[in-house]
Amino acid sequence: MTGREDVIELLVRQHREIRELFDEVAAAKGAARTDAYHRLVRLLAVHETAEEQVVHPAAREGEGGDAVVDARVAEERRAKELLVSMDKIGPDAEGFDTLLAQLRDDTLSHAAHEEREEFPRLRAHYDQDRLLALAGAVRAAKRSPPRARTRVSSRPPRTSSSARRWPCSTAPAT
Ligand SMILES: [Fe+2]
Ligand SMILES: [Fe+2]
Repeated sequence: MTGREDVIELLVRQHREIRELFDEVAAAKGAARTDAYHRLVRLLAVHETAEEQVVHPAAREGEGGDAVVDARVAEERRAKELLVSMDKIGPDAEGFDTLLAQLRDDTLSHAAHEEREEFPRLRAHYDQDRLLALAGAVRAAKRSPPRARTRVSSRPPRTSSSARRWPCSTAPAT
């Protein structure tokens, strides 16, 4: 189905799936809400972990890359903190909806920044073969979240936050 997606197409598709899952969690009740929330947390974990390990290092290449990526990493750190708070209280708790709405706004804004400012850098710096290889690396990271160690850049990770795991302890293993 999506075997020939390049890395940008793959990540944009995941952004769309994340947005749909936010809507599903907001609309669901009871066990269905908990299930949708777990799927959302898991997808966020695999998506952002793959970006940290595969996409951000590649996007740092070239002038201005560090500033663009550092801003995205800071947004991801805030989302992690919010998710930890949501994990603590659970999807049935009072106040969860407020945190969910905030996480949704932050995440969709973050995704828009990536699509506008970060992903075009990949398109500009790498040829299509490399973009397809990066997609393979993202898929490999997805198969083994959150401990995937796939790297496509010789540059070391620049953020200590990348060592902080995405909170997906409540998500069922697949
Ligand atoms: Fe991201
Ligand atoms: Fe993203």
